[in-house]
This record gives sequence, C-alpha cells and structure tokens, in this order.
Amino acid sequence: MTGLRMAVLVSGRGSNLQAIIDGIQAQKIHGEIIAVISDKKEAYALERAQQAGIRTIVIEEACREAFQRTLLDCLHDLEPDLILLAGFMRLLSPLVIQSFPGRIMNIHPSLLPSFPGLEAQRQALEYGVKVAGCTVHFVDEGTDTGPIILQAAVPVLEEDDVDSLCNRILEMEHRAYVKAIELFAQGRLEIEGRRVRILPPAPAKEEIM
Ligand code: GRF
Repeated sequence: MTGLRMAVLVSGRGSNLQAIIDGIQAQKIHGEIIAVISDKKEAYALERAQQAGIRTIVIEEACREAFQRTLLDCLHDLEPDLILLAGFMRLLSPLVIQSFPGRIMNIHPSLLPSFPGLEAQRQALEYGVKVAGCTVHFVDEGTDTGPIILQAAVPVLEEDDVDSLCNRILEMEHRAYVKAIELFAQGRLEIEGRRVRILPPAPAKEEIM
C-alpha cells in the first residue's frame, strides 16, 4: 500500500472512521490508516479498526499533561503524513498542534463559525437556523477555529429533532471528510492565512507529454 499515511484519533462510535476505511477500500482515498488511537478503551471505533485489520492504540492517562505527552510520543513514532480527528473528544495541546503544522484535520457537525464546541446540532436546532451542515477544517489552537477546507449544508426540516438532524448531517460528514482527505492526499490544499485554496487537479500524464 502506498500514498498518504494517516493516524486517526477517536473517542466513540467511529462512523467517520468507518467512512474513511470504506473510502480507502473504494479507492476514493489513496492512502492507508497506520493506526487508530483512542482515549477510551471501550470506544466502538476500536472494534471497527480491528475488523479492518488496523493497528489500535489506547492512551488512557487521566492526567492531561501525561496524556498529551504520551500522545505526542506516539505520533512522533508513527510519523503520519496526516492526523485525523474523528469524534475525538479532547483538545490537543499546543505542542501537539505545533508539531504537525497544517497536518491535522477535524470534522465538526455545524457550518462553522456557527456553533463550535459540544452538541453543535442541538445548538443549531435550538437557535432556529434553517440550514445546518458540517465543516472539515485544519486544526489550530482554538476550539473548531482552524482554516476551513470544505463545508456541506443540509436543510433543517419542520419536524426535525436532534436525532434526525444529527443523522442528516452525519451523512454529509462522511462524504465531506473523504473528499477533504483525498484533496490533501493529492497535494491540492494550500493554506493562506485563514483561507484554504483548493488547487486544480494535476494534469493527466498524456496531457504533459
Ligand atoms: C461527529 O458528529 C463529528 O462531526 C464530531 O463527533 C461526531 C463523531 O461521530 N466531531 P463518529 O464517532 O465519527 O460516528
């Protein structure tokens, strides 16, 4: 297997992890997951990784500093090209973020900068917005504040509750994350301050010759 070497950080059910695994199998992403790292040993995402034959690592340090130090050591050993947060419920320390500049992505279930933080879909529903969605962004030291790579919108329907809205957004998350990762794999994302430029695809070989 060649291409992008990814480490995926998870804490929970791992449906985005599954979308990435499926995206690799369907050759929508050219790369491999070298490890799935969880801060919870009971995370269902770990089972998904094991079923796909992917190495799993659990870091369950209670103390925040010890956790971040262990995570950083682990990431240095793995040397991933890209780190993906997929339902990872901890903030990364500035040291971890600075060690992998422009190489950490997150998926968030709102159209940022609206509704950062926890329970974004509930926040959107309670605010009364008519359009919700998801955002894939590079990670900086703020909470859900990094440069935006892709966004996808969905309608909020009259009959929606939090669950139905979550499900509609989740479907878009899976597609947007796979697309953003492949753009990165193709070297087509360029960060310019707050903006992420999506470069055109490289010309096919016969066009060059
Ligand atoms: C997703 O809604 C993601 O946007 C947010 O956490 C949730 C994780 O879901 N960051 P899953 O574990 O990928 O199913």
